[in-house]
Amino acid sequence: MTGTRARRVLGAWVVAAFAVVSFAAAASVWDGVYTEAQAKRGEAVYVQRCAVCHQPDLEGGDMTPALVGGVFTANWNDLPLSDLFDRIRITMPLDSPSTLSRAQTADVVAFLLKSNKWPAGETDLPRELEPLREIRIQALKP
Ligand code: HEC
Repeated sequence: MTGTRARRVLGAWVVAAFAVVSFAAAASVWDGVYTEAQAKRGEAVYVQRCAVCHQPDLEGGDMTPALVGGVFTANWNDLPLSDLFDRIRITMPLDSPSTLSRAQTADVVAFLLKSNKWPAGETDLPRELEPLREIRIQALKP
């Protein structure tokens, strides 16, 4: 009996310790999660597919939200990058949704990260949701 209980308690500690470790390891947009080359590819997608509404300077217009600046980063603050990725992949471009490939979506997200002054790094932003879920959008540098 006591042996079982001890094992349960130990098990709970292992789970808790693992949760702490994986939380500490979670990346944010401040960790250099895309490359300059990818952002450059994303800029080309943006110019062709997004700029007509969100404007070449990404500032948006009357009915179209800005994709740079404090309002945008505050909107997405603390959400995983997978949310922004899927928002774009599923609902944008508004006039022809779901027409970007996963690669194009990742590239355009990289361009948005660069435009919001989050730093580039050594590896491309992934196109799969699983790893994107591990990257947190943080408006302010931690
Ligand atoms: C035909 C006009 C149009 C085009 C083209 C377009 N958008 Fe949008 N976008 C909008 C409008 C309007 C909204 C707000 C209303 C809505 O979400 O339906 C929006 C919302 C967004 C949002 C959510 C912003 C926020 O902070 O909530 C993102 C991100 C976005 N667009 C990205 C893109 C990207 C990336 C492209 C190009 C691949 C694109 N859009 C193309 C019109 C457009």
